[in-house]
Amino acid sequence: MSRIVSSWRADFPVLATTMHGKPLVFLDSGASAQKPRAVIEAMDRVLSGGYANIHRGLYEISQNLTAAFEDVRVRVARFIGAESEKEIVFTRNSTEAINLVAQSWGRTHLWEGDEIILSAMEHHANIVPWQLLAEQTGCVIKVIPLTGEGHLDLSAFEQLLSEKTKLIGVVHVSNALGTINPVEAIISAARAFDPAIRVLVDGSQSAVHMAVDVRAMDADFFVFTGHKLYGPTGIGVLYGKYAVLEAMPPYQGGGDMIERVRFSGTTYKEPPYRFEAGTPAIVEVIGLGAAIDYVCEIGMEAIAAHERALLDYATPLMNTLKGVRIHGPENTAEKAGILSFSVAGGHPSDIGMVLDQCGVAVRTGHHCCMPLMEALGVEATVRASFGLYTNQDDLDALVAGLNKARMLLS
Ligand SMILES: Cc1ncc(COP(=O)(O)O)c(C=O)c1O
Repeated sequence: MSRIVSSWRADFPVLATTMHGKPLVFLDSGASAQKPRAVIEAMDRVLSGGYANIHRGLYEISQNLTAAFEDVRVRVARFIGAESEKEIVFTRNSTEAINLVAQSWGRTHLWEGDEIILSAMEHHANIVPWQLLAEQTGCVIKVIPLTGEGHLDLSAFEQLLSEKTKLIGVVHVSNALGTINPVEAIISAARAFDPAIRVLVDGSQSAVHMAVDVRAMDADFFVFTGHKLYGPTGIGVLYGKYAVLEAMPPYQGGGDMIERVRFSGTTYKEPPYRFEAGTPAIVEVIGLGAAIDYVCEIGMEAIAAHERALLDYATPLMNTLKGVRIHGPENTAEKAGILSFSVAGGHPSDIGMVLDQCGVAVRTGHHCCMPLMEALGVEATVRASFGLYTNQDDLDALVAGLNKARMLLS
């Protein structure tokens, strides 16, 4: 079999650098991905050749940048299959997008005793905003449990649905296990039970690893974050069905989101602008647009196929290492490019430190999924997460580093 290489690796300048004198093996894309030259250059072009505030200036460079900024909204809509760019709200990240829904939609639609269903696999970003809302409104959070390791228990989910259920929040791809959750099945079961139930899909990891179509899955809300999609930090996206967004009050107040301000009362713009108070992350939006163009040129299907080949290569290899146990689905077809594992006799932090010395960057800890760790009966795991630039050499370096760690720690 020929070696798995990434034809896109050279687009990422940082991958030519070293860590502790060893070639950098970057396996922490799940936390934040590296940036291709196309993104770096697009942002640099704005900053050095045409920067101004947008939406306000009558002069040419402001108007040009406003048009470029709004064009990214159109490209984001196309990227996730939204019906219209009016359904795309720019936020700081996924976390802010979820907080926006919790505080704007949640505080106007949920009352004491109403129920929210979340899954045991959620990132803290899709737990804590709902807990804050529960404290404010008296609504109740119910949790979809896991079956064994790595799947959601769908029959338990159906049992949780009740006439009090108002919202379901579920992660599309688990950042800690890589599990691809059947969000379409969850949404259609919710619709069959009560069409008024709203579903928020956390696409922070899925938008990176696979093609997403929010209309086909019929999500009411879908969130993702730019920095995991090879774009800059400080920019995220909230998709909401337009009719749902239209019925939501502003999240924050300030400039740019108003129609008319008087001390006797203020009127607000239509979505998405109603939810974008203040000067937006102008340069970061341009960077996100460049990142989306970049991955679309490669094709999300090609990225998914590449990462699947890497998983199919690494999984059996890791399984041959004594004491290594992979968490999450065994079947690689049910997961995205994330390998989360424990090593018998080695604390994840110790493993992470040995790998660091080998030039291998992985994430260790609870991955902002403490309830999931509890359900798995572990305190932490080691996580190697792939990007479109990951290749077979990276995985061989991971395995060599793990062999070294097992030797040192035994
Ligand atoms: C599944 C998932 N949801 C939400 C987040 C939060 O993303 P951000 O910190 O960019 O808001 C992450 C980040 O790790 C994630 O993996």
